[in-house]
Amino acid sequence: MIEEDLLLSTIDTREPSLCPLGIKRLDDLLGGGVPCGSTILVEGPPGSGKTSFAAKFIYEGARRGEKGVYVSFVEGKYSFYSFMKSLGMDFYDLERKGLVTFIEAIPLHNEEAARLIIERVLMMALEEGVKRVVIDSVTVLIQTFGLEKARELLTTTLLRELKRAGVTTLLISEKPRSYTESEVSVEEYIADTVIELNYRLEYGKIVRYMRILKVRGVSIPLSEITFTLRKDVVIDLAVPIVPHEIPAIDTSTIYKTDIGEIDKLLTGIPRGSQTLIITEPGINSLDLLLVPLIPLVARYGGPAIIRSYVRAPEEIKRVITQTARRLGLNIEQILDEIVISAINPVSQSLHEIAAENARIDSTVKPRFVAIHSLNTLLELYPNINVYLGSHLNNVLLRRKHGITGFYTFSANPKIKDIPGIDIYDIVALVRTTKNEEEYEIEVLRHPLYAFPKRTIVKRGLFKPKGV
Ligand SMILES: Nc1ncnc2c1ncn2[C@@H]1O[C@H](COP(=O)(O)OP(=O)(O)O)[C@@H](O)[C@H]1O
Ligand SMILES: [Mg+2]
Repeated sequence: MIEEDLLLSTIDTREPSLCPLGIKRLDDLLGGGVPCGSTILVEGPPGSGKTSFAAKFIYEGARRGEKGVYVSFVEGKYSFYSFMKSLGMDFYDLERKGLVTFIEAIPLHNEEAARLIIERVLMMALEEGVKRVVIDSVTVLIQTFGLEKARELLTTTLLRELKRAGVTTLLISEKPRSYTESEVSVEEYIADTVIELNYRLEYGKIVRYMRILKVRGVSIPLSEITFTLRKDVVIDLAVPIVPHEIPAIDTSTIYKTDIGEIDKLLTGIPRGSQTLIITEPGINSLDLLLVPLIPLVARYGGPAIIRSYVRAPEEIKRVITQTARRLGLNIEQILDEIVISAINPVSQSLHEIAAENARIDSTVKPRFVAIHSLNTLLELYPNINVYLGSHLNNVLLRRKHGITGFYTFSANPKIKDIPGIDIYDIVALVRTTKNEEEYEIEVLRHPLYAFPKRTIVKRGLFKPKGV
């Protein structure tokens, strides 16, 4: 009885406090982070982002004033520090402030060396208040000492003591790029949270993804989340936006272009609405995109983003200048309000393009966004699921932030099954008429009226004089 009472009295019934990993959206999915004092395993093949992930974990701790130790058996301090600097994390500075200690042991000679390191880490946890520890990697321990010994070093000494001291520990484990699900490693048993980082190739482009394989007490609805490695954010997860975050169309703010024909046809463009302009091949879709955009920027101000997947920035600038001049608007003032962003879709995967779009939107915080030639993305990477998955999230985020979007998609207008047509609020179809001097514009969808509207406009409206 007495023994049982003693036992009960030592059980801590308080909810453990949470320790954010510093990886945006992953912490949200985990309900705020991992329990402080728990063990996280990050596994994956070389180049999958494990070191970057672990470094962000230490960096986040330091940002919160928690001391961290990074133990590396694979990489020297200076190569690590300079790699992290390229990701926007200044470890030199953290080391100077006494917040980070980097311990390197390459190669790890013998068990004695390993024990000394473990002792040093434990001392730092007990005496210097270290709160976060990374071991990069347990694979090296296993390769050097064999499974049994490595396990003993890790579980019976290091992890047990660190847990007792309330230190959150992140273990890194190397895994082949593909392995069978049935092979559960020892490391996976000893960890409270298991995260796999990996990548695959899609149309020759690298697509990184994360899988949350094990987590205690939280149900994770997403099994696989794509991410990109980028400066400052480090691990940039593409977690889909949840529907309840998206507000209804704001019909209290209606933008007008001040161009009679367009305003008559469209009635107005609600703030935060997304407009798809489908153009017949051969039509200059950049002109068609700029004609509503430039007068809107002149009237309501920016900032605005213009992105083309096919035209160079200089050319876009030239067309902006021509359009503004023709409409009698102040060119300098308009150029000041517009960010021209060019992404060469040949050099990146659809996931990276979507992440880049989201990043530019969140830094520029534009009032208007105009995207030229969506069809190019699909022509390059003809996977409708991936195209829609990445593009839809960009579109929904814009609606959420009240950013009014315009997109062109060049297609044969007889084919009305443009991928993802349902995600837009306004859909307009532009054809040339038999009369070469005119465009026929048909609005197929609009939140402010029910029926398709059609109009014929002089092509000259969209064409710079003398061209
Ligand atoms: N500045 C950078 N920005 C984005 N990615 C980078 C940068 N520097 C290197 N990388 C990429 O990061 C990956 C290496 O990540 P790392 O965290 O070392 O992976 P692991 O530890 O799993 O081997 C490489 O694939 C490399 O292409
Ligand atoms: Mg590494």
